[in-house]
Amino acid sequence: MFRFGALWMAVLLAVACASRPAEYAAGSYLPPTSPDTLIPQPLQLDTREGVFVLDADTRVTWQRGNKDAQGAADLLASYIDRATTQTLVTAQVPMLGPPQGGIHLTFAGADKTLGAEGYQLDIAPGRIVLRASERRGLLMGVQTIRQLLPPPGTAPADMPIALPALSIRDTPRFAWRGMHLDVCRHFMPLEFVKQYIDLLALYKFNTFHWHLTEDQGWRLHVPAYPRLTEIGAWRYGPGGRHGGFYTEADAREVVAYADARGIVVVPEIEMPGHSVAALAAYPQYSCTGGPFEVATTWGVFDDVYCAGKDETFEFLEGVLDHVLAVFPSEYIHIGGDECPKTRWKECADCQARIAAEGLADEHELQSYFIRRMETYLNARGRRLIGWDEILEGGLAPNATVMSWRSTKGGIEAARHGQDAVMTPLSHLYFDYRQSAEPGELGATYTRRTIDLERVYSFEPIPEELTPAEARHILGAQANVWTEQLKTPADVEYMVLPRMLALAEVVWSPADVRDWTAFRRRVRAHYPLFDAMGHNYRRYD
Ligand code: ACM
Ligand code: ZN
Repeated sequence: MFRFGALWMAVLLAVACASRPAEYAAGSYLPPTSPDTLIPQPLQLDTREGVFVLDADTRVTWQRGNKDAQGAADLLASYIDRATTQTLVTAQVPMLGPPQGGIHLTFAGADKTLGAEGYQLDIAPGRIVLRASERRGLLMGVQTIRQLLPPPGTAPADMPIALPALSIRDTPRFAWRGMHLDVCRHFMPLEFVKQYIDLLALYKFNTFHWHLTEDQGWRLHVPAYPRLTEIGAWRYGPGGRHGGFYTEADAREVVAYADARGIVVVPEIEMPGHSVAALAAYPQYSCTGGPFEVATTWGVFDDVYCAGKDETFEFLEGVLDHVLAVFPSEYIHIGGDECPKTRWKECADCQARIAAEGLADEHELQSYFIRRMETYLNARGRRLIGWDEILEGGLAPNATVMSWRSTKGGIEAARHGQDAVMTPLSHLYFDYRQSAEPGELGATYTRRTIDLERVYSFEPIPEELTPAEARHILGAQANVWTEQLKTPADVEYMVLPRMLALAEVVWSPADVRDWTAFRRRVRAHYPLFDAMGHNYRRYD
């Protein structure tokens, strides 16, 4: 049904008069989504005369014999099915060139200068062609088409859909476009994790940082250490039992779901701090031997992994063996933040390690810990990333720094010639409140509020870096800690629409950023959130 009948009739007439093919002039539906409300803004967008008309006869085709193009085509067809009442025919093309009509996805003729995630999209009255030089580029282009479709369930039944003709050349500004999710403070069900990834895809993020272990819960089943989830996944607080975990099959499903959308899952296994849940299961890897209970309050805890005992490293390497088998990501996040040195100062094993390794103090012991894990990961072809405290006591030689307390850690890493991702709590902590209004959801331990405009104002490249140093800033990411967020709906409220602002910061050229225009464009996405059944914070 038309929700805004008269308005749409006017638009339909206008479009019909412009250039729509005569046979569709009377009856195509022009969705409220439009090229000027795309988020993030493409590098280059030229609107053209006319519309492409999508109807039940439209075929989505792909370059013959190419599985990657087929995967992107299948994804696009699923979005079209959801957005319309049309059942499209997806088909293989028996030739390399685009067919006469329909929507064609291909690697042929792609502009290689647009890079691995770049794409070209041409929508003409007769056909749509999406080109990219790599799979990830096609997947990014698919999301652009998805944003031009009507929000699911909003198009009138059995009406063809009109997509405005245009030409887009697009490529991201940054290689690391991340969203994090803490599933430990409050467990988030598998189905929601996939919905979250789907939102990342919609806004062209390419990295899902999955924070899997904490003082308050261990969320990944590890076959060699079953107590991690038997004991460590559950806490018994005033509100009763809380917890949950992901099986190996669940984790693999998440990795595959993300991969099909061009997103890498970077798992985080926290060490040496934030490890009380693991120590509740295996107290022998602490300094004191325990016993411990999975934490039921928030904060930073003194009991951490013992850096003196070799058994601790054997345990963590065993855990990482499983993590590496399940997660193919180049980066493995080992945490490294907020590790008190209280126990290490009093532990004979830790002090013996300091003496044997000739370390100056407990900060260098933390550095020893991280370097040892880095050696393990590097030997298996992976890279270590950790929070900015990994700079203390000396940065591991190949490590990438996730700069959270401010951008200083990222600046220091870049000046060392090492990579960094900016996630400062000043702009990108999406667990912080969006206003100071009473009842506003979010962290209350800080007076800081981070509203949409503040996120939009974030610049990942600090002014003080030289161009050579700036190349070490891989990108930016927002973090979503869940102490205060109990449900998927709470998480949605915190990320929608702030993640749209970050999407534009990390994808679009810096000089197209325009807050006033962005505010208007964001509102055009509310009907999509509504259609997808997501909770969100309105900025009116
Ligand atoms: C952090 O917020 N502790 C990384
Ligand atoms: Zn110790």
